[in-house]
Amino acid sequence: MKNLAILASGNGSNFSAIAKAVKAKKIKADLKVLISDNPKAFVLKRAKKQRVKAVLIDRSLFASKATFENAVITILKENKIDLIVLAGFMRLLSKNFVRKYKNKILNIHPALLPSFKGEHAIKDAFDYAVKYTGVTVHFVDEQTDHGPIIAQAIVPIVKNDTLKSLEAKIHKIEHQIYPAAINLVLKGKLKPKGRRVV
Ligand code: GRF
Repeated sequence: MKNLAILASGNGSNFSAIAKAVKAKKIKADLKVLISDNPKAFVLKRAKKQRVKAVLIDRSLFASKATFENAVITILKENKIDLIVLAGFMRLLSKNFVRKYKNKILNIHPALLPSFKGEHAIKDAFDYAVKYTGVTVHFVDEQTDHGPIIAQAIVPIVKNDTLKSLEAKIHKIEHQIYPAAINLVLKGKLKPKGRRVV
């Protein structure tokens, strides 16, 4: 059985979707630990509810990114983690960290990459008034919102959509596409080769 860690900084709806998929054996892995950098993150409460071990590594208590990441690495090693799943983790990982876990970190982004990179992707797509936006699951490489794409799903923006209704549609799709993608990667079926996933 492969060991999973989820890193999250905020609400944690993707965390809950993944934890439920693990329980339902839709993801064949052991969800060993949730790591959060933010003491106020709601995801910490969700972890308690799902009975997943939660570790708070408060970024504000560390003098540098390197010392913070070393603390994260210690927890990953202790739990023998095979795959790291970023789910609303609001810290950019250093090149060193990414190299250390090459092809072992996944991220979900709430837009169709390479469009609308960055922190406000849903709002940016809504304000731009594109007709279609969506969700992207990708391997993490050394550039932000950039690694090889594993899966994408399209979400249309229709006439009566508000930012709120669009957010709800995006999150609903995220909760389906992310567990499915995680399971495929864990099965060893998907490997990055250049920009492609084969
Ligand atoms: C999601 O929209 C995800 O795509 C982005 O951050 C958000 C996290 O939402 N990376 P939640 O904390 O899982 O509810």
